[in-house]
Amino acid sequence: MTTKKISPQTALIHSEYEPPAGFGAFPPAIHHASTVLFPNVAALRSGDWKDKSAYTYGLHGTPTTFTLEARLAQIEGGTDCLLAPSGLAAIAMVDFALLKTGDDVLLPDNIYNPNRVLGNWLQESMGITARYYDPLVGAGIAALIQPNTRLIWTEAPGSVSMEVPDLPAICAAAKAKGVAVALDNTWSAGIALRAFELGVDIVVQALTKYQSGGADVLMGAVITRDDGQPGGLHDRLSLSHMRLGYGVGADDAYLVMRGLPTMKLRFDAHDAGARTVAAWLSARPEIAKVLHPAFEDCPGHETWKRDFTGAGGLFSVLFDARYTEEQTDRFIDSLKLFKIGYSWGGPNSLCVPYRIQAMRRGWPDAGILVRFNIGLEDPADLIADIEAALALM
Ligand SMILES: Cc1ncc(COP(=O)(O)O)c(C=O)c1O
Repeated sequence: MTTKKISPQTALIHSEYEPPAGFGAFPPAIHHASTVLFPNVAALRSGDWKDKSAYTYGLHGTPTTFTLEARLAQIEGGTDCLLAPSGLAAIAMVDFALLKTGDDVLLPDNIYNPNRVLGNWLQESMGITARYYDPLVGAGIAALIQPNTRLIWTEAPGSVSMEVPDLPAICAAAKAKGVAVALDNTWSAGIALRAFELGVDIVVQALTKYQSGGADVLMGAVITRDDGQPGGLHDRLSLSHMRLGYGVGADDAYLVMRGLPTMKLRFDAHDAGARTVAAWLSARPEIAKVLHPAFEDCPGHETWKRDFTGAGGLFSVLFDARYTEEQTDRFIDSLKLFKIGYSWGGPNSLCVPYRIQAMRRGWPDAGILVRFNIGLEDPADLIADIEAALALM
């Protein structure tokens, strides 16, 4: 079956999976294995762990994980995919594939904080410099690229302060200097932003979020679009994947696969719900600013309009400066439907306060930042929950 002429939503449902002969069914089989058996010593000796048309060891892939990898590469418009035990593990796979002592990596100042912690650790322990840039730098990134810069991280948008970077401008400057650009594309789930078409070299997805959709799995993926040649990006990432000993459980891989056919519908519902709640919040006197890329107040809004076809369910607000942290904490504690916890992309709405001034350089001192993950509840109920909690603030 060709998936070229069908829409992304249909492609999520009609995968390339071929069930065993005589057993027509939609779900792919779940294969559990550490040991993979070879018919003889010659086959064992000639086995190549990089060869995805064969199997050598459970850690290097099973029919279940290869099926999931192929589906994720297809969604993102890439050629290859490697699975990791979490989104953060996927980020680390990229760093360990591309960086060595003496190299330099550039990260946006609004990057997912554990990615920043990893960057700082690379600097402190590995002799790699990690430098932070203004996420709205655009083509100005060219001035920051040094001869030893090997990797530029991007995140669209930054998942707390929500600025949308100008990816085509950053990628063009990086390409001109032979530097790879990696994008954490989790917010768009790979369906609302065609990253490779904008010039990105490596896409990371935290499958923990929209792909799984159930708030019950931790997994990540690194997706590339290259020719697979030795020394190329996918080849280097495969080596990193193998050296780090990354594997994912068959049942978890199946859970992510089970989420894929409904991902676009869920994503659209998260998007609509988030815009409804964000619009309501934007009219409230307690809120100074809504940081949602589809709203004009959000830095990078014009870039979002140009590059994205939708929005994730995650956004932040800045409370008016007259509210103290004690008051905004009371607001969050008073919410009933919104639960307090990290992560996003599942059916339940979540709310988390951030001390953004400590995370971002040059962030104005005033105003508490609170992040909302809009789940799949009726937005009217979520708004009523927020309204009641605001009254208690
Ligand atoms: C933007 C972003 N990237 C990556 C991750 C990491 O995903 P995981 O929790 O699977 O490690 C997260 C998790 O919250 C995230 O928000």
